[in-house]
Amino acid sequence: PRHRDTRVLRDYIRTIPDFPKPGILFRDVTTLFADARGFRMAVDQLLTPYAGEPIDKVVGLEARGFILGGAVAHQLSVGFVPIRKKGKLPGAVVSQAYALEYGEAVVEIHDDALKPGERVLIVDDLLATGGTAAAGIELCERLGAEVIGCAFVIDLPELGGRALLEELGYDVHALTV
Ligand code: PRP
Ligand code: ADE
Repeated sequence: PRHRDTRVLRDYIRTIPDFPKPGILFRDVTTLFADARGFRMAVDQLLTPYAGEPIDKVVGLEARGFILGGAVAHQLSVGFVPIRKKGKLPGAVVSQAYALEYGEAVVEIHDDALKPGERVLIVDDLLATGGTAAAGIELCERLGAEVIGCAFVIDLPELGGRALLEELGYDVHALTV
């Protein structure tokens, strides 16, 4: 019937060519986040595989992983920990360099943000080469935490991120390509 909304999660994401560089097809999730039904769909689906699993903290990767990770942490009633680009966190940090699809960067976490043995779920909007997620995993593990999964809205499998993370032995959950 005409009144029933049949959009799936993929329908809320738009692709913008040549951003931030020529040749990049940029997956824009602002249109997903801006839609009440789309945003709830994303947060609910990110959590589906982890029902009943103990999770102590959600770790979000800057910047779009903060929006999703904050909502996921709230839904789980657990704390949220940010991994930020170099120089943004005010306290003592541990740092990790990594390569991106379109450049390179350093990410940081507060050195007291996770306790040894804590079970963390890493959340981000998109998995491309896996460099960002691998650096995030490394930071969590350097604090002694256990990464029980990495959840993304979008996987771009041709860029190899899923293969990399699975090769390293991590659980990868993505909602769409
Ligand atoms: C994007 C995306 C992921 C990362 C994925 O963030 O949100 O964090 O790239 O790429 P990878 O799998 O090849 O590492 P970006 O670095 O553009 O940062 P931003 O969210 O702060 O804009
Ligand atoms: N991060 C890395 N590659 C990306 C892409 N194609 N779209 C959005 N974010 C990205």
